[in-house]
Amino acid sequence: MTSTIDSSIRPVEDTPDAARRAYELDRRHVFHSWSAQDLIDPMVVSAASGSHVWDGDGNKYLDFSSQLVNTNIGHQHPAVVSAIAAQATKLCTIAPSYVNDARSEAARLIAGRTPGELDKIFFTNGGADANEHAVRMARLHTGRHKVLSAYRSYHGGTQLAVNLTGDPRRWPSDNASTGTIHFFPPYLYRTAFHATTQDEESHRALEHLEQLISFEGPSTIAALILESIPGTAGIYLPPPGYLQGVRDLCTRHGIIFIADEVMSGFGRTGKWFASEHFDVIPDLLTFAKGVNSGYVPLGGVAISPEIAATFGKRVYPGGLTYSGHPLATAAAVATINAMESEQIVQHAALLGETVIGPALRGFADNHVSVGEVRGTGVFWAIELVKNRQTREPLAPYGGSSPEMNQLVAACKSRGLLPFANFNRIHVVPPCNTSVEDTQTGLAILDAVLDIADGFAT
Ligand SMILES: Cc1ncc(COP(=O)(O)O)c(C=O)c1O
Repeated sequence: MTSTIDSSIRPVEDTPDAARRAYELDRRHVFHSWSAQDLIDPMVVSAASGSHVWDGDGNKYLDFSSQLVNTNIGHQHPAVVSAIAAQATKLCTIAPSYVNDARSEAARLIAGRTPGELDKIFFTNGGADANEHAVRMARLHTGRHKVLSAYRSYHGGTQLAVNLTGDPRRWPSDNASTGTIHFFPPYLYRTAFHATTQDEESHRALEHLEQLISFEGPSTIAALILESIPGTAGIYLPPPGYLQGVRDLCTRHGIIFIADEVMSGFGRTGKWFASEHFDVIPDLLTFAKGVNSGYVPLGGVAISPEIAATFGKRVYPGGLTYSGHPLATAAAVATINAMESEQIVQHAALLGETVIGPALRGFADNHVSVGEVRGTGVFWAIELVKNRQTREPLAPYGGSSPEMNQLVAACKSRGLLPFANFNRIHVVPPCNTSVEDTQTGLAILDAVLDIADGFAT
C-alpha cells in the first residue's frame, strides 16, 4: 500500500504572539459560517502538513475531517503548492472568455475521469454554485421547473442549493418558492418504509419516488439531484439497485439526473467518483472540494453531450468572473496528476477495505454506543446511540448534545480532529493518510468510544 505523506515533517508555524493576534482580530472582525457569533471559540490553525494541523499553541492534531472533507490529498502537497506558485508567476487571472492552458488541461483531466461521456466542463467557484448551474442547465434544457431532492442531503449554502438541501440548515432560508420538492431516500437504519432488508428498502424507496413523480406530474419536473453517496447527512450508501432505479425513472420521464459528487468525488470513496460503484451515468455531475484538495476555490459541472448541445447555438445564460480561474485550475491539474502518479485513489480504497472498515466493524462489536457503522474508501460514519434497541440518537436530529460535545473535546484533547454531525462521527481523513496515522486515529476513536459507552444503556 502506498503512503505519500511524511508525518514527521513539521512546517513553519506562527509564533504564539502572531496566533494570539490572529485570534483577537478574528473575534473582532470575522463573521463565521453557520454560527452564533458570540458562542464560538474557533481554533487557530497556524500550520498544516499532510494529514496534520498545528494550533496556535503548537499542539499537533491528526485531521480525521479533511477540514470540510476537501483536503483529499492532505495539506501542502509540494506538487500542488509548486503548481500554484508557477501559475502565479506566469498568469494569476484571466477572464473566462479567454482560453487558458491550465483551465483547458483541468477540463481534459476531469472529463477523462467522470463517468460516461460527460465531456464538457463548466467551472464554478465551489459546490453550491455548481448545483445552481446544473439546475439552471436542466431547466433550460427541459423547459420544466421543478427539482426533486432527498431529505437527509446537503447541496450548498446559496439560495437554491440550500432549498434543495434536505437537512435543518435549509429551514431558516426555505421560502418554498424555488420549485424544490423533497423525497425520502433509502436509509435502512432509520427506515421511512418499515423495511427490514436493504432490498426491501431499495424497492420501497423507489416505489415512493415513482409515486411522488406521478403525483407531481412528470412533465413538470426538470431534474432530480442526489448525492451519489450522501455525505454530511450520514454517509449512507444507497442499497443495491437504488441508484440504477433512480436513473431509469429519470430516463423514462425525461428528468435530468444530477449526481452531486461535491463531497464523494475525487477519490474519497476509493474510486474517482462514487457513481462508479453503482454503474450509473448521470446527465450532469457536480464537483468541487477534492478536485484540487481545496487549495484554491473551485467547483464545476460535467455536462452530457445532449445538454451541451442545447447550448450549441443558444446562449447559456450564466457565468462567473472566476470561472476556470488559472490558480484554481492549475491546482486541479497538479492534484489530479499527483493522485494518478501516487495511486492515491487506490490507496483510499485499500485504507477502507483493510484498515478503516475492519476497525469500525470491531467498534460496532465492542461498543454499546455504536448503532451502525457504514462507508467505503475514506468515507465512513459511526452512528452513536443511547440505546441499541430503540436506536435513540446520542444527539437529536438537527442538534448537538452535551454528550457529543464531550466526545469531540475528548478527541481533540488526544490530538485528533474529528468530523461530527448530530449523533455521528465521520471518519474522513485525507485519501493519502498513511496506514500508521490512520491506525493512530482509530485507536484514539476506540478510546473515546469507551466514554460514549458510558452514555448508553
Ligand atoms: C454534497 C455537497 N454538495 C454541495 C456542497 C456545497 O459546496 P460548497 O460549500 O463548496 O459551496 C457540499 C459542501 O459540503 C456538499 O457536501
